[in-house]
This record gives sequence, structure tokens and C-alpha cells, in this order.
Amino acid sequence: MKCFTVHSYKGGTGKTTLAANMAVILAQRGLDVGILDLDFQAPSLHTLFGVTPQTTYINEFLVEKKTHREVLTELGKTLGLKGRLAVGFSDPNVEAIRTQLARDRKWHMQALSQLLNLKQHLEKDSLDYLVLDSAPGVHYSSVNAIVLADFTVIVAKIDNFDFDGTLNILDGLYAPLNKKTYLLFNKVVPPLMEEPRRSTMKSTIEEMFSAKTDLIGFLPCYCEVPLGMGSEIHALTQPDTPFIKSIDKLADRLEAIEVEEAEEEDA
Ligand SMILES: Nc1ncnc2c1ncn2[C@@H]1O[C@H](COP(=O)(O)OP(=O)(O)O)[C@@H](O)[C@H]1O
Ligand SMILES: [Mg+2]
Repeated sequence: MKCFTVHSYKGGTGKTTLAANMAVILAQRGLDVGILDLDFQAPSLHTLFGVTPQTTYINEFLVEKKTHREVLTELGKTLGLKGRLAVGFSDPNVEAIRTQLARDRKWHMQALSQLLNLKQHLEKDSLDYLVLDSAPGVHYSSVNAIVLADFTVIVAKIDNFDFDGTLNILDGLYAPLNKKTYLLFNKVVPPLMEEPRRSTMKSTIEEMFSAKTDLIGFLPCYCEVPLGMGSEIHALTQPDTPFIKSIDKLADRLEAIEVEEAEEEDA
């Protein structure tokens, strides 16, 4: 099983949108995929995939009140995908968010061992991919998501806030953890995608980042994406749009990344 986290320095770069569409695209290819909402401060996957009053949240698994099967919702068949799509939702109720925000470092260390358990269960369930939608920034919950994954896709916008912030987390978070990253620029405004600006932008970014991370792509800002109002998974509804074709290519790149397989545990 290959596990990757989608992370960023700041919020709103497109992590959830990209993570969800990527998970659906991989499942459309017949792969068995899991996706977990690990942004406990601002849960979002429930808005994209929808939940029912019966939904139980990963929060309950972290405090050992529910089993891994109880907190995963299988959506592959419902969404007409070739592969499985097991979604773990984070509890969006304000009280649950407040509770999570008040958790200390010790709690998060225990949560990490629970998340490792969950990952092991999914590995035994023969999932091919596990996608982690992380909170932005350097909070313990983001660190857990980074530690759990084989590699991280850092999503940034083309501006100095994200340039500085991304350099900051590459040096202060990823380097000490010795974790592999791929940097994806999202919401690139169309004039920057045209020559000669495109080449200038690329060389500036390469100079800034190439020693610290691998650049994995530039996704333009497409008006059709926010038009979905955060409740549309374009890989399902508009698979032929340039946005989804770009994510499809990105999925090829991610599929080509080789990771070390976890060793089989003795029975
Ligand atoms: N390539 C894109 N072009 C235009 N809008 C985008 C693009 N990617 C994401 N968005 C929009 O950006 C907003 C924030 O996206 P979201 O996935 O919630 O970000 P995050 O999870 O990083 O906070 C949403 O309205 C989403 O539709
Ligand atoms: Mg998000």
C-alpha cells in the first residue's frame, strides 16, 4: 500500500479538492483506495462526499471507542467506481473541533499509534492507496499525517506567502523528519501559464526549491472548480475537463513513485 499526505503551509491551497479527486481517479482506475480526513480543525470531506446521521467519525477510533471498520464508509459502489473507496470522515461538530484543538502533544502521540493501527488494518484489507487530507501548518495533527505517509504532496499557490511558508516547513518540519516531499503549485493564474512568464516563473521556483523538494507540477486556476461549491467531485461529474485531465496526469506521476513496501507481520 502506498500512503501519501496532502499538506500545505497555509489553508485554502486546494488540498482537499486535490486529495478527493485524486482518490476518486485512482479508484476509477480499479485500484482500492482509502482517504482519511485528518484535518480535525476544519473537517471537509463530509461536505464533498456527504455523511448520514449514522456516520461514525475517525475521532471515535482515535479514542478507541469504535473499530476501524465502523469509522470507514465504503463509497466505491455507490459512486460507481471500479475499485473500493473507503472514506474516513472527521467530526465537523463544533464541540468535536474544540475538543481536538485542546489536545496536547501527549494525546497526539497516542493518536499516532492509533493511526498506525488504522493504516495496518487497511494494509491487511489490501488497499492499494491511502490518501491523507491533512490540516495546514505545523500542528501535531499535521506532523502525524506526515509521519504516517511514505511521502507528502505539498500544495502551494504562487505567491510570497506560500513561497516563504513552504520553505519554512521544508527546512523546519520535513528536513528534521527526513520525509520525502513533492511540491505542487495549484491555482496558478492563467497569465502566468503563458510564455514568457511561464519560463521565468519556473526558473524562479526551481532556483528556490529544487535543492529541497521535487517539483511535481503546476495546476492552473480553473473557474469550474469553485463553481462546484465544494460539493462536487469533478472526477465524477466532469471527467473530461482540463482540471481533471491535469489531476489524471498527476495520478500517473504518483503511481510511478516507488516506495518501500512495509514488511509483512508474522501471523
Ligand atoms: N485548480 C483550482 N482552480 C480553482 N479553484 C480551485 C482549484 N483548486 C482548488 N480550488 C478551490 O479552492 C478552494 C479551497 O480548496 P480546498 O480544497 O478546500 O483547500 P484546502 O483543503 O487546502 O483548504 C475551494 O473553493 C476549491 O474549489
Ligand atoms: Mg482542506
